[in-house]
Amino acid sequence: MVHVRPSLIELQSYVPGRKVPGAIVLASNESPYGLLPGVASRLAELTGGLSRYPDMGAVRLLEALAARHGVAPGHIAVGAGSSEVCGQLLHTVSSAGTEAVFGWRSFEAYPILTTVAGGAAIHVPLRDHHQDLDAMAAAVTDRTRLVFVCNPNNPTSTAVGETPLRAFVDRLPEHVLVVVDEAYHEYADPSEVPDALALFGDRPNVVVLRTFSKAYALAGLRVGYCVGAPEIIAQVRKTQTPFSVSALAQEAAIAALQENEEVVRRAGLTVKERERVTHELRSLGYELPDSQANFLWLPLGQDSTAFTDHCLDNGVILRAFPGEGVRVTIGLPEENAAFLTAAAAWKTDAQ
Ligand SMILES: Cc1ncc(COP(=O)(O)O)c(C=O)c1O
Repeated sequence: MVHVRPSLIELQSYVPGRKVPGAIVLASNESPYGLLPGVASRLAELTGGLSRYPDMGAVRLLEALAARHGVAPGHIAVGAGSSEVCGQLLHTVSSAGTEAVFGWRSFEAYPILTTVAGGAAIHVPLRDHHQDLDAMAAAVTDRTRLVFVCNPNNPTSTAVGETPLRAFVDRLPEHVLVVVDEAYHEYADPSEVPDALALFGDRPNVVVLRTFSKAYALAGLRVGYCVGAPEIIAQVRKTQTPFSVSALAQEAAIAALQENEEVVRRAGLTVKERERVTHELRSLGYELPDSQANFLWLPLGQDSTAFTDHCLDNGVILRAFPGEGVRVTIGLPEENAAFLTAAAAWKTDAQ
């Protein structure tokens, strides 16, 4: 019998959002608008070169990202989705006996990737659906190597403001790597949720994580990146699986960066729908926190699974976190309407 790492045997696998043929999918926080127009045409041109390896250094993508963020390319590391970059960051700093701290519940991959990287995952309970930064700072010890701040937080949709985030980072020892995960940045209100790149661009122990999977509508192609000090980025790059960002993914990301106006327009549509759906749900008697992301959090506790099953019976797939709540991705207006009809019927049935 092969000797498998005991920590892996205990580990729960990642649970992806469900897909049921014909159903409306509001379970994976994807963009509902399809590929950006310039991306679709660029991908069609590229198929002839796919028998070759991609550019391992992703040089043109790094240049495009560097121009976007006003930094040198040496400040950026890319990966196959920001999930891979999360893993790379953990592999950069973790070893046996080290810990990574994060609020919980948060992005499901954090504990999995921490364990795979050989560290221990420290789950710090949320307070009122928000990351409890005081409790997270208190959980930092000599063993801590990395802290995730998920801003806005998946799945609870809440965000940390500039003053508490700055105070939190100031409190942490400089040997701890702070990863501000901004996967949903484009949906957040800039007057309430800081851009961590602007805030911490000069700190050697802060990196900011971004993805092309959400507002850039490229979840299927797998591109994400982090921005930070060149000293740490040089190490993070060593942990990438060689050639993990395919040629199609690199070119699609470069094309998507050129479509900023459309990205902003689509994010605006999603935010408008988010506010409408939030208002309708509250009118129906649901309690939910204000969202800064492209999804809503319904803290339905013990009813979470039954509510999700009820919505599936009505043709809408949501994401249940049994015993805690349900995450509802904001889709197209007609998809959201189908969800609201199901949510209204649930309340009527409960009377
Ligand atoms: C907070 C957060 N970070 C990172 C990711 C990873 O996204 P991807 O690997 O598609 O870039 C997700 C995906 O849902 C997420 O919710």
